[in-house]
Amino acid sequence: METIYTWYGHATHGLQVGKIKILIDPFFTGNPAASTTADKMDADFILITHGHGDHIADAPSIAKRTGALCISNSEICTWLRNKGLQVHAQQIGGGYKYPFGYLKMTLAIHGSALPDGSDGGNPAGFLLTTPDGKKIYIAGDTGLFGDMALIGDEGLDLAVIPIGDNYTMGPDDALRAVKLLRPKRVVPVHYNTWELIAQDPIAWKERVEAETETQVFVLKPGNVLSL
Ligand code: NI
Ligand code: MN
Repeated sequence: METIYTWYGHATHGLQVGKIKILIDPFFTGNPAASTTADKMDADFILITHGHGDHIADAPSIAKRTGALCISNSEICTWLRNKGLQVHAQQIGGGYKYPFGYLKMTLAIHGSALPDGSDGGNPAGFLLTTPDGKKIYIAGDTGLFGDMALIGDEGLDLAVIPIGDNYTMGPDDALRAVKLLRPKRVVPVHYNTWELIAQDPIAWKERVEAETETQVFVLKPGNVLSL
């Protein structure tokens, strides 16, 4: 079964697992790095790591149009359910078996207030085990934390981690994260959307590949990576 990861720019991702389309943290409207627009997106499931606008902005409109099931923490799911959307709530440490695989919510060190100021609960990442056993870790917005080593113990085929600094890990801590996660492949995200999080991903790739066994894929918005 082929699994295809797409980076749409900033921290908006797609995963296609077989025929199932999963959208993660949809932020197209107002995203200067976005490779496409919200109205062109199709989704069966929408995963949301936390409540910040640059992760949830287009989730309500895409979910409404497509009928996608939204998966996030309880607080964000309540907010989405109140907009008439279909939801499945999980919390950190908990996993659930969906048609696209076993999805576990993981720790993230960050905030999660929703755009209207509502309580967005705790921020999270996602660890997906596809039906054929591939492990994909989407860190979400986070600082470095030591328990990334526990996530790494699962044996990751792909880790998607922020390197932008200021709001999340910067390049130095993201390199330390790779050493804890030990993934086969890593994709850096959450950088170069705005000047405040400008980074050189090629310089980071060279450092990571000099110091670890991990292969770094520097994607352009709209690029895909097949697993
Ligand atoms: Ni955030
Ligand atoms: Mn963010």
